[in-house]
Amino acid sequence: MNSQFEVIQTAAEYINERIAGLRPEVGIILGSGLGKFADRIQDAIVIPYKDIPGFPVSTAVGHKGNFIAGHICGKTVLAMQGRFHFYEGYGMDRVTLPVRVMKLLGINDLFVSNAAGGMGEDFKMGDIMILKDHINMLPNPLIGPNYDELGPRFPDMTRPYDLDLIRKAKEIALELGISETIHTGVYLACSGPTYETPAEYRFYRTIGADAVGMSTVPEVIVARHMGMRTFGVSVITDLAHYDTDSEYVTDGYDIVRIADAAADRMTALFEKMIERL
Ligand code: HPA
Repeated sequence: MNSQFEVIQTAAEYINERIAGLRPEVGIILGSGLGKFADRIQDAIVIPYKDIPGFPVSTAVGHKGNFIAGHICGKTVLAMQGRFHFYEGYGMDRVTLPVRVMKLLGINDLFVSNAAGGMGEDFKMGDIMILKDHINMLPNPLIGPNYDELGPRFPDMTRPYDLDLIRKAKEIALELGISETIHTGVYLACSGPTYETPAEYRFYRTIGADAVGMSTVPEVIVARHMGMRTFGVSVITDLAHYDTDSEYVTDGYDIVRIADAAADRMTALFEKMIERL
């Protein structure tokens, strides 16, 4: 056993004590501007990251720093209100620590959300993209000694996002009457904290990305390494600009505002999906 594994175990033991007998089944990561989903959690137990041994503190705009345990539609969930990003200066072990802790707590389904820049055809600000695949332009979080207790050295990544959950999400979007604002596509993760140059947006579009952001993929890689089922959505908070001549400026506060406006649709989608797990 190595020391990082002990950090994961110690954090899991601490949370286990705080949630006193709850057995969470679903883990949820709430991205920029999407933290208000946490208001839907009943019998909520709030655990600030700063109280958890070994946990960093989230500094990103629009991110609070809490785990929230409780119930949604009859299921026991553990949500992260705010996550850790590589651009904040945390190593990949820190960025992915909460997902590994979730696994040790017995969680097998991971729902992930983020705010992202849209490049897909017909994408509009405030739309939601269901992730069907990703491109990782961040360091791979599994570089280094493999934690054999958690998963294999060379994990398969043919289906990073669960096909059944994607199918269910599309059905639910139809039922909710929101399918016109929902797309399916490929998410590209880069480090940030700069937004993309026009040439970078063109490059990412050319290599097959439909949305670009600064998170999610490290957590999904670690989750898939441990055999968890993953489902992800991006809220499209801004659209790629391919031209240096435009007057346009990408602004982090606008992004949080647009994400906030889309949060109700994302909440409705996640709730129905969790109900039907
Ligand atoms: N690029 C990178 N990250 C983002 C963006 C973007 O356009 N929008 C929200 N997060």
